[in-house]
Amino acid sequence: MKTITVHASKGYDVLIGAGILGEAGAIIRRKVSGQAAAIVTDDNVAALYGNRLTEALEKNGYRSAQYAFPHGEASKNAYTFLSILNFFAESGLARTDVVVALGGGVAGDIAGFAAACYMRGINFVQIPTTLLAAADSSVGGKTGIDLAAGKNLAGAFYQPNAVICDVELLSTLTPEVFRDGCAEVIKHGVIADRALFESLRTPINTQLEDVIARNIEIKRDIIMEDEFEAGPRKILNFGHTVGHAIELLSDYVISHGQAVAMGMAVVTRAAVRMGICEERCLFDIVDILRRYGLPDTTQYDANNLARACLSDKKRDGDGITMVFPENIGKCVLKMIPVNELESVIRLGLEEY
Ligand SMILES: NC(=O)c1ccc[n+]([C@@H]2O[C@H](COP(=O)([O-])OP(=O)(O)OC[C@H]3O[C@@H](n4cnc5c(N)ncnc54)[C@H](O)[C@@H]3O)[C@@H](O)[C@H]2O)c1
Ligand SMILES: [Zn+2]
Repeated sequence: MKTITVHASKGYDVLIGAGILGEAGAIIRRKVSGQAAAIVTDDNVAALYGNRLTEALEKNGYRSAQYAFPHGEASKNAYTFLSILNFFAESGLARTDVVVALGGGVAGDIAGFAAACYMRGINFVQIPTTLLAAADSSVGGKTGIDLAAGKNLAGAFYQPNAVICDVELLSTLTPEVFRDGCAEVIKHGVIADRALFESLRTPINTQLEDVIARNIEIKRDIIMEDEFEAGPRKILNFGHTVGHAIELLSDYVISHGQAVAMGMAVVTRAAVRMGICEERCLFDIVDILRRYGLPDTTQYDANNLARACLSDKKRDGDGITMVFPENIGKCVLKMIPVNELESVIRLGLEEY
């Protein structure tokens, strides 16, 4: 088992290993006190792993209860959020008890936000079950829900007390959901670590523990420098400004990972044309995306993409901060004025 320690506003360990779900109760017992545990999960994950987690918790003296919402992004809303808070209250959860998110990014984000709000903050443990959650969303403390006006528009920074990542749980993912996580792993390689990027030429599923651990270290180092996204943390948005626009334009039919893959290819192509990076960098990124069956082009045009980007919450006054690769392993932030955004995106859409 690997342990990575995060020192943010709250310090915590991320434990990564094969078959550690059965030890979750004992691990949580060492990290937080309390009598009761509330599991928040979705219906798919509940059917696969809910009983095993319940047993692991009860074996270690926790009274446990489970809330399972219908799987998918559509559940990450204010209605589910309020139902979860009511479930905590009805279960008699006290401030010293613990909320356990079991699932992908949706379960982690909504359970984390509910944990941040319930009694102004209750113990919170993440057990990620998708590659995206394991390598990205379970660490860093961003929690939240979607509003009708857009994704992740309400939320809180709320770090967990522990993250327990059992890589065996990822074996039941569909290829599509696994692929979405691969896009975020590729992103971490491009922004921070050429060696990780190059290691991805060996399939991720044959080296899950190592790849997830390296991703967590990269994210940890970035958030420890800038937990609340004043500046440097924005580097994690590589591929996401255009990616979010693509998700929005597709009415969320195109998945997050696919959209981020397209977004990374578009900004890298623009970066080559703007003289920020060499062609080699673009070829390497496109090659790795294709190896994982991820797309590198989009059917949307520059005008629609620019308009969708500007409706995103990440707009900063007169401009929008975009992340461009200088090389594999190093990206830079650039403020693009609103009136130049469309032409920058257009550079990224032309065939190479
Ligand atoms: N907080 C952050 O820093 C952060 C970062 C990136 C993404 N996110 C959020 O994460 C969400 C996307 O997360 P996701 O891609 O994990 O989606 P998800 O949680 O909806 O999971 C995807 C699908 O996989 C299923 N599933 C989960 N684990 C499984 C398993 N082990 N076996 C079989 N099926 C399983 C789920 O039921 C679901 O249908 C988005 O809402 C996004 O905004 C948050
Ligand atoms: Zn993402």
